[in-house]
Amino acid sequence: MRQTRREEAERGGRLRAGAELDVSVERILPGGVGLAHARGQTVFVALAAPGDRALVRVESVRGGLAFASIREIIQPSPARVEPPCPYFGRCGGCDFQQLDYKAQLAAKVEIIRDCLRRVARVEPPREIPITPSPEVWHYRSRARWQHDPRRKFLGYYERGSHRVVDVAECPVAAPAVEDSLQRLRALMREGRLSDDALEFEAVEGDEGVSLAPAIEPEDSREQSREVGGERYRFGAGCFFQINHALLESLVAEGLGDAAGETALDLYSGVGLFTLPLARRFARVVAVEGNPASAEYARRNLADAALPNARVETSAVADWLAGHAEGLGHTDFVLLDPPRAGAEPETVRGIVALSPRRISYVSCDPATLARDLRAFAEGGYRVASVRAFDLFPQTHHVETVVHLLGESQTLV
Ligand SMILES: C[S@@+](CC[C@H](N)C(=O)[O-])C[C@H]1O[C@@H](n2cnc3c(N)ncnc32)[C@H](O)[C@@H]1O
Repeated sequence: MRQTRREEAERGGRLRAGAELDVSVERILPGGVGLAHARGQTVFVALAAPGDRALVRVESVRGGLAFASIREIIQPSPARVEPPCPYFGRCGGCDFQQLDYKAQLAAKVEIIRDCLRRVARVEPPREIPITPSPEVWHYRSRARWQHDPRRKFLGYYERGSHRVVDVAECPVAAPAVEDSLQRLRALMREGRLSDDALEFEAVEGDEGVSLAPAIEPEDSREQSREVGGERYRFGAGCFFQINHALLESLVAEGLGDAAGETALDLYSGVGLFTLPLARRFARVVAVEGNPASAEYARRNLADAALPNARVETSAVADWLAGHAEGLGHTDFVLLDPPRAGAEPETVRGIVALSPRRISYVSCDPATLARDLRAFAEGGYRVASVRAFDLFPQTHHVETVVHLLGESQTLV
């Protein structure tokens, strides 16, 4: 008699794609997947909640690890909620809508803890505080939409693919950003979007929403936003953090009580940390690779009448290798790299400057932990860790870690 896949799964042996398994989800791992075990093997379950018992299907097996999706919830976790977005599961934008907000925050703290332990080999502090987002829906002031001109689809990429999900609404987009999506969709239906425009970036500020590429002249207007008493100008092609309600506290944590002679702001964008640093340090050098962002940072400093800070347009690693020597003693280095983290030469270059204190602002706990390990090898230890939930409904989290040279203590 032929056995069903489920029976086959229960018989034991190596897991194979297509197998169906009854598993219990233990916890959420870095990357946002649920951890489960079956037949002594590790199963990563997408869109899971810790405590779920579910029938899952193994989609692929790589390096002895099974990647599975949920077919049926047998016993839901107490933290499981009904995801409100009709595209959830297919759209690659959100992967935490199945968790109530308290469980999202707890999972993010666990993710940071896990990365610190396993990757950085650092014993995490007993408490890692996480600042919740004041808005858990309609908070994103920036969005990137994909356009499929052949099918007339506009939205986000599907989970794990480059196919476009046609998204008629997005519950995490800020209302004005959502209005821009509707406007673009109307233009698409009227055949007024160019077939060559395959991606649109929308960014909200006090002047409305800007779009890149622009459709109308006003789409390319520059934006501005006030954070902690400083005004920042930026354009649609520049990086500016997406959850504005948390920025004042993020900046405050990034700086801590640092003050002194010389500070570096690496990966500075349009100067979110550069301006407040320039009020605390006699001399600040900001380094940013994107020329448009670097130019905005210069203008933001000029508007704030802060001539004691200068902005270098350069890759951070190159700048540290070529120019840092002439800097003299550096008291404080703040770095806020993209998701890939800092390059090994960047970590080496910072360690060579031997600042008393380093503040690492990160949007990816895994690359943060990798770099913390390198800083530890360079003689720095973790003095504090704090998280900010800039990205509700996703597994992403912002973390600020202060590092001190071996002989230093935080005052
Ligand atoms: C996460 S953003 C942080 C920006 C800024 N600190 C803020 O909070 O608004 C990272 C920035 O690093 C810049 N960047 C990325 N790779 C870089 C590199 N290798 N060298 C210099 N800048 C880089 C990006 O253009 C972006 O502005």
